[in-house]
Amino acid sequence: MKILVIGSGGREHAIIRRLAADRPAPELHAAPGNPGIAQLATCHDVSVGDLDGQVRLAEQLRPALVVIGPEAPLVAGAADRLREAGMTVFGPSAAAAVLEGSKSWAKEIMAAAGVPTAASVTVTAAEELAAGLDRVNPLGDVPYVVKADGLAAGKGVVVTEDRDAAVVHAEAVLTAGGQVVLEEYLDGPEVSLFCVSDGTRVVPLAPAQDFKRALDDDEGPNTGGMGAYSPLPWAPEGLVDEVLEQVARPTIAELADRGIPFVGVLYCGLALTSRGLRVVEFNARFGDPETQVVLERLTSPFAPLLLAAARGELAEDEQLSWSEDAAVTVVVASAGYPAAARTGDPITGIRECESHGAHVIHAGTAEADGELVSAGGRVLSIVARGADLEQARTRVLEATALITLEGSHHRTDIARRAAEEATR
Ligand code: AMP
Ligand code: GLY
Repeated sequence: MKILVIGSGGREHAIIRRLAADRPAPELHAAPGNPGIAQLATCHDVSVGDLDGQVRLAEQLRPALVVIGPEAPLVAGAADRLREAGMTVFGPSAAAAVLEGSKSWAKEIMAAAGVPTAASVTVTAAEELAAGLDRVNPLGDVPYVVKADGLAAGKGVVVTEDRDAAVVHAEAVLTAGGQVVLEEYLDGPEVSLFCVSDGTRVVPLAPAQDFKRALDDDEGPNTGGMGAYSPLPWAPEGLVDEVLEQVARPTIAELADRGIPFVGVLYCGLALTSRGLRVVEFNARFGDPETQVVLERLTSPFAPLLLAAARGELAEDEQLSWSEDAAVTVVVASAGYPAAARTGDPITGIRECESHGAHVIHAGTAEADGELVSAGGRVLSIVARGADLEQARTRVLEATALITLEGSHHRTDIARRAAEEATR
């Protein structure tokens, strides 16, 4: 089977790596891909933003399936364009991807579907800010949660105890022409659950936890994600079923009722708060870097799952199988990420890292004069598995230490707490 994957990041490398492990192995193509992907797939020089180029490439290759990785082309209508050209596509239409593209619309869908989420107010002008903050944080209770309404690569959110800082971020978003969503603060651990949907049916993958802050102990600014692990030994029993019943199925049904079938991955970003399960955010695609650990554990065939969803033919009782192993990934970020990522620095040590029981997912790399260099904020995502989280964690950290990239930083506490609790 011929498959074309659109994207150039760690998520797409992980998707391609997992597709390549299916038997029989599919014939893999990527647009544009990256140097890591190029080891497993034929890369085509068509950028993520070039929808015309993607359609032309698909018409040339005639793949059995096109998988769209990132949110930007989905929101821009890549899936619609490819479907119009007769392709079988895994990824939601532009209309359905608004679930990620607009936090205020996602809130409206959740309200209509009865999905639990943080109380919120959407603000469109600076004059409404003070009243909005007073409504969402009525007793001056903190922290404040201020979100840019549109796509922001995970960086549009500020969580702060400082009202002035909340106002500054909100005003910056408004001045840039955006809307602001003010939200009630959700306490409790976060969980990412990817639900594959064919527009009506929903199949959950294994839950994972992402680490959004740049620095250890959840210090520093929000990022796209600095590491992840799966499974979650601490998660309450029945969590996945609860998310399916309370969140994923009602959301997919609400969209279907509105004539906007969602075909692809509904990424449920959840907080397990003291008052119960709440949705923090929806995304319209696989998460990055959670995909790296979730797919590492998937033992069922992957391509047939994506193809069945793309065709609207998921089985009602589809049961996926999972390795008992734990998987942990640590992201190596470039100097200055997330504020201002430096690029063009040489990367060495990948072979050493991989002979140390880990594998290296390329997230933001490029080749320059035959040398591998950094080309983005999140540069590599190192993945290791183990019999348990502690073993996977130790392996991934030892392997990560063998990578050299000047000025780079990575977290050393990914899965630490979960591993400690699991052995207690
Ligand atoms: P989002 O882009 O909406 O996923 O937000 C990015 C990150 O900000 C989340 O993963 C949380 O860590 C944090 N965050 C977002 N909304 C809230 C909230 N209402 N309460 C607490 N933390 C939040
Ligand atoms: N890791 C968070 C995201 O993919 O949005």
